[in-house]
Amino acid sequence: MKILVSDDVSVKGVELLREHGYEVDVKTNLDETGLIECIGEYDGLVTRSMTHVTAKVIDAAKKLKVVGRAGVGVDSIDLRTATSRGIIVVNAPTANTVAATEHTCAMIMAITRHIPQAYNSLMAGEWHREKFTGIQLKNKTIGIIGVGRIGSRIAKRMQAMEMRTIGYDPYIPEERAKQLGVELVDLDTLLQTSDYITMHTPLTKETRGMIGAEEIAKMKDGVRVINVSRGAVLDIYALAEALKKGHVAGAAIDVFPKEPLTKDINPFIGMDNVVITPHLGASTVEAQIGVSVDVAEGVMAALNGEPVATA
Ligand code: MLT
Repeated sequence: MKILVSDDVSVKGVELLREHGYEVDVKTNLDETGLIECIGEYDGLVTRSMTHVTAKVIDAAKKLKVVGRAGVGVDSIDLRTATSRGIIVVNAPTANTVAATEHTCAMIMAITRHIPQAYNSLMAGEWHREKFTGIQLKNKTIGIIGVGRIGSRIAKRMQAMEMRTIGYDPYIPEERAKQLGVELVDLDTLLQTSDYITMHTPLTKETRGMIGAEEIAKMKDGVRVINVSRGAVLDIYALAEALKKGHVAGAAIDVFPKEPLTKDINPFIGMDNVVITPHLGASTVEAQIGVSVDVAEGVMAALNGEPVATA
């Protein structure tokens, strides 16, 4: 059977598939047309977030039995069309949890102490100290939207920084929140009382556009906003306006409504109270090996007709 790997995934998963006798082609940077042209010959497809498995791609996929997503988010796959065609969608929901958590923590630190800005300034031959005065995390409140796998780990790490952790999550029981040391609140309370707000939700009908101009307006003056979840959860254009006005003091953003984020659609160009990274949440050596092996195993199980946990 033939498997197409259409995004950069660790070679470990590719090797595993080949060891099990699958013919694997790695073709990255295909656009929709390119994918449509070649997908017909494959039984399996392995992607990361850059490949969009649209209804048109699925229609062209005459032999496709499984789509494997080397990561947690399946918002880049038209699940309804895939399911209606009997195509199994598997993901790798756990292997990059720690990577996303640690990147979020790094982003929080970076905006709090202006690390990239100070680095750039020093590399430009300047020596400024006052300009880069930060604030302390201790005794600040961090509001976590989505207290699941990643959000709960953020809470643990930020508690180590002596922050107060509050959370909005309609799906976790009070008891679990208590165990995590997270005070559950409604969204408005979180928006109005947090010094830092960080998002850790999947992209769903409920979370798309969840934090827009109206929600940003409710945030405390001087709030810092972090998003390492999904770009479409947060309106970055409304955020950029609030940063310009000084209502939001800083933002650290890893994910964007349209990726790659090109200069012409980047609202943060020229702003010095922002740290942005190109969707690096899951980008650690360990996480990438983990997701590629997990997804390879899921794809093989699906192709062998074994029971699999679908995404
Ligand atoms: C995920 O959904 O797990 C990540 O966004 C994966 C990625 O980096 O592509």
